[in-house]
Amino acid sequence: MSNWVRVGCLADFPPGASREVLAGERVVALFNCDGTLHALDGICPHQGGPLGEGELCGTTVTCPWHGWQFDVRTGQHATSHSVRQPTLGVKIAGDEIWVDVGT
Ligand code: FES
Repeated sequence: MSNWVRVGCLADFPPGASREVLAGERVVALFNCDGTLHALDGICPHQGGPLGEGELCGTTVTCPWHGWQFDVRTGQHATSHSVRQPTLGVKIAGDEIWVDVGT
């Protein structure tokens, strides 16, 4: 079931940006890849690092704590096929960014 939460304004989130946002009580990593927004669960599955504070290069984010890398479009870990970070839906309404945190 969808549960859309407003997390910010598009004007404050330019291409190349990565950011940690709170959507309700959920920590979300939000990325702007050349104008397309993507959202992942913001807690790194390795040891809980803040993925939204990681460096974004193309569509790959690098966790700032120990360097695990994920494709922000799919959540897939760069080298381990068994590790996939949950993705969240993103939509834009006017200048507002919304993330679907589900039920
Ligand atoms: S906590 Fe993210 S790589 Fe270790």
